[in-house]
Amino acid sequence: MSITPRDPARPLSENQHLLKWVEKMAHLTKPAAIHWVDGSEEEHAALCQQMVDAGTLIRLNQETWPGCYYARSHASDVARVEDRTFICSLSKDNAGPMNNWEDPFKMRKKLKALFSGCMQGRTMYVLPFSMGPIGSPMSQIGVQLTDSPYVVVNTRIMARIGLPVFKLIDKNVKRVVPCLHSVGAPLAPGQKDVAWPCNNEKYIVHFPESREIWSYGSGYGGNALLGKKCFALRIASNMARDEGWMAEHMLILGVENPQGEKTYVAAAFPSACGKTNLAMLIPPESFPGWKVWTVGDDIAWIKPDEKGKLRAINPEAGFFGVAPGTGDHTNPNAMATLRRNTIFTNVALTPDGGVWWEGMTETPPERCIDWQGNEWTPASGTKAAHPNARFTAPASQCPTIDPAWEDPNGVPLSAIVFGGRRAETIPLVYQAFNWSSGVYIGATMGSETTAAAGGVQGKVRRDPMAMLPFCGYHMGDYFRHWLKMQRNLSETPRIFHVNWFRKDAQGKFLWPGFSENMRILKWIVDRSRVRALARETPIGWMPRYEDIDWTGLPFAKETFEQLQSFKGSDWISEVIGHEELFIQLHDHLPPEMIYERELLICRLRFD
Ligand code: GTP
Ligand code: SPV
Ligand code: MN
Repeated sequence: MSITPRDPARPLSENQHLLKWVEKMAHLTKPAAIHWVDGSEEEHAALCQQMVDAGTLIRLNQETWPGCYYARSHASDVARVEDRTFICSLSKDNAGPMNNWEDPFKMRKKLKALFSGCMQGRTMYVLPFSMGPIGSPMSQIGVQLTDSPYVVVNTRIMARIGLPVFKLIDKNVKRVVPCLHSVGAPLAPGQKDVAWPCNNEKYIVHFPESREIWSYGSGYGGNALLGKKCFALRIASNMARDEGWMAEHMLILGVENPQGEKTYVAAAFPSACGKTNLAMLIPPESFPGWKVWTVGDDIAWIKPDEKGKLRAINPEAGFFGVAPGTGDHTNPNAMATLRRNTIFTNVALTPDGGVWWEGMTETPPERCIDWQGNEWTPASGTKAAHPNARFTAPASQCPTIDPAWEDPNGVPLSAIVFGGRRAETIPLVYQAFNWSSGVYIGATMGSETTAAAGGVQGKVRRDPMAMLPFCGYHMGDYFRHWLKMQRNLSETPRIFHVNWFRKDAQGKFLWPGFSENMRILKWIVDRSRVRALARETPIGWMPRYEDIDWTGLPFAKETFEQLQSFKGSDWISEVIGHEELFIQLHDHLPPEMIYERELLICRLRFD
């Protein structure tokens, strides 16, 4: 007996809001068909075959690259487009000076015109996804309507998709973030499709209040895989501010010392500045017994638990990593991860049905086809792979994936590291005095621009917390949110700044980087673990119970904690008392006193 294949047009959810929205958007965009994505292996195989037939994907040599595919984008659609990315909050002030803003009513009108009929001749996929492990209290759910099957197969790697997500949606446990995406290339009846449809006019638009995403004209990376930067950072940063958590452009790793103790660290570096590499670091041979475990390579959602300790999850399920520069010498773990079930975009294709990019091997292949489809030899004088060529690989395939990487409650964070690409000025590593000075270091960090975004490369720009292109609201409010976070913490992570990219007068890197970054990581972890027999609090460093030698004195922990406790409400009058003194002394008072008092007020909670 043969099993009748499922009719993809039949809805896989009974949620009336979802059904109505799909119907409304189909009415607007006029697709030729609707396909509800179940996320199955069979569906994946069929979509890949369909894209191979259409010329969008090339199946790589399945003996050497099992389950792997290759895609070449249009030469104009190779990276995020920051100047076409909008935060359309109700008020311009809420978007802040660092974001493009347009009146949401005007923008909706514009988008409706663009999306009108834009899926003609194509299939609209109804793609449900969970950012974070299915059912984790820290996870969020979205549904992306897209006319790009390439987006569907990539999202299948990058997020948890399909039936289990529809089940959650039907249970109505969480609000769903609606994401509408089109490559903006409708097909007239009989019109032949191109391998990489896209549109010269691009709009990546976020409506923070209604938590909606509309993306038009691009099929590449963060412009099109809407769960990633659009949802997990720009929309999630808004959710996080409202709900008391943090959505950050950070890798998460766990450092295990020879005693088997694990310390988790999150690090924010701008795009193409080494997050994937650090997350998968292999310690040098001179570090026996040390091990680095990978939790995530790009995004962290961080929340204080009921004990006041920060915990982090990786909302993603895959790595969308920069290919150039990734090789067995720089990142063997990434190389092992991408050996199977991986989609390569804009790298070079070798004659034996494999892939290559600058930095993958020391000697380039004698010939290959470059990212634009041209014959290439080492003598060509051009790059075989686009500098922002990427691999999409399942995180579960990473040899160092942390056993706790899918823990629904996340991993405990002990340190936060900021870093940028700075040829000059910035030291290899330094530690902030405390949380607020750490926030200052993150807020003021700078980095040389890279190929991960369109525009000029190699210019130093301020990129606060590596969130410049990703913060979905006013950057000033974002700093305030960071400062406020500490009020809910019983244990404050130590904050550090690193720079792997300092150069000498000849323009050579001064620091070997990669594996050797372990030396710096060890110092960071040691500084974070040994809390100098104290913990940092809003009023200063304080000994914990176990930091005092109680030999010969039976003293209850509760009594000690009572002795040490302080309340915001008591401190209000205390601080008013400071002010009374300051007024008497005002014409001689150093400004630092005012700032410190202001900082103290900011750190205390008064409720
Ligand atoms: P996004 O995915 O864009 O957010 O980037 P990322 O921060 O994950 O960057 P990734 O780890 O992919 O590194 C990008 C580039 O930086 C690659 O070409 C690496 O070879 C290079 N790189 C990474 N770590 C180091 C390092 O320690 N030293 C030097 N010199 N280069 C590094
Ligand atoms: C980045 O640019 O920071 C990336 C790639 O991680 S993208 O998903 O395109 O944003
Ligand atoms: Mn990134």
